[in-house]
Amino acid sequence: MHNVKAITKQLFYLGGNDRRIALFESAFPVPRGVSYNSYLLLDEKTVLFDTVDSAVAEGFFENLEAALGGRPLDFVVVHHMEPDHSASLLRLVETYPAAELVVSPKTAQMLKNYFPFSEKNVRVVKDGDTMSVGSRTIRFLAAPMVHWPEVMMSYIPEEGILFSADAFGTFGALGGSIFADEVHFERDFLDDARRYYFNIVGKYGIQVQNVLKKASALQIQTICPLHGPVWRKDLAWILQKYDVWSKYLPEEKGAVVFYASVYGHTQNAAEIVAGELAERGVPVKVYDVSHTHVSDLLSEAFRYSHLVFCSTTYNNGVFLSMEALLSDLKAHFMQNKCYALVENGSWSPQAGALMEETLSSMKNMRKAGETVTVLSAVKEESYAALKELARAVADDFFADAAQ
Ligand code: FEO
Repeated sequence: MHNVKAITKQLFYLGGNDRRIALFESAFPVPRGVSYNSYLLLDEKTVLFDTVDSAVAEGFFENLEAALGGRPLDFVVVHHMEPDHSASLLRLVETYPAAELVVSPKTAQMLKNYFPFSEKNVRVVKDGDTMSVGSRTIRFLAAPMVHWPEVMMSYIPEEGILFSADAFGTFGALGGSIFADEVHFERDFLDDARRYYFNIVGKYGIQVQNVLKKASALQIQTICPLHGPVWRKDLAWILQKYDVWSKYLPEEKGAVVFYASVYGHTQNAAEIVAGELAERGVPVKVYDVSHTHVSDLLSEAFRYSHLVFCSTTYNNGVFLSMEALLSDLKAHFMQNKCYALVENGSWSPQAGALMEETLSSMKNMRKAGETVTVLSAVKEESYAALKELARAVADDFFADAAQ
């Protein structure tokens, strides 16, 4: 049975939730599931904004038929061609052959790559183009690389509604309410929203900043993203989060100690550093990078200001899970951090120099203290060095906090 939700009198939510999915994009655990959002506007013309992932297609087509109430489907705006939003397009075109697809120039090309579509029902729009659909206008805004190159957003100025594609989305299925102001977003969604942002869109901070500049010129009342709840209150709060995230600024002052340990000695070193940081009044978290998923680690690394990396040496390199984390941080353009290093090695410690090589190649990074070398197990000398390292991080933290 259909399950359509009204956003305004003539705008409807048709999306669905997948709570069985294990890995979003075959990469990111989503224990709380994910929603795929689609919206239908009923004006003089009917306009569908995006489709959904194949996992929730059946419910979507029931919703679409019910919401149309026998009217034809006139337009389908395709904001983003990634299959979590476009997988249902072929069935849609077959079901509603008269509908015109409204797409960016790059989407027009991608449509041909994905589907056996002819061009007769495709209307290509560019940044700034508008289209009247009755009492409302749709203005199209190019948003390249948020999160693919073809992405566009659209805006209805008469009601201040922004369809934001992947931006302002989050992992986490919707639990009944579709509105961010009807859930405790900060408690229940913010960690997932941050993890979604940094893992999915975080690499493209400059492009997100460009979109935020465009958005600042609009009178936005409602944001309809492709995942997660619809925003109609507290827009400044989520916009400010995106501003900080996309500028690669730490969201919070605090330290995170990441460690990769095989038999517990590197963990011991990490716990000594963390304990000393806590004693000195620095808020600190500790993660075993071999246990916590790298998408969570990445999100936490971007969130905090001070990072300590502790790794054992393995095959003359950095331990596998730590190497994966550092590689992911570099790929996502991590920058603007204070970091400190601890290495371990029983006969030829190498991890410190290799971690430093990666971290020092990132933009605006500063190192606190000297790399501490542990030879197999922490002894009196390395114990003192770990305490000294924590002091150096704490000194930087309080100097930084005073600015
Ligand atoms: Fe939700 Fe980039 O797709």
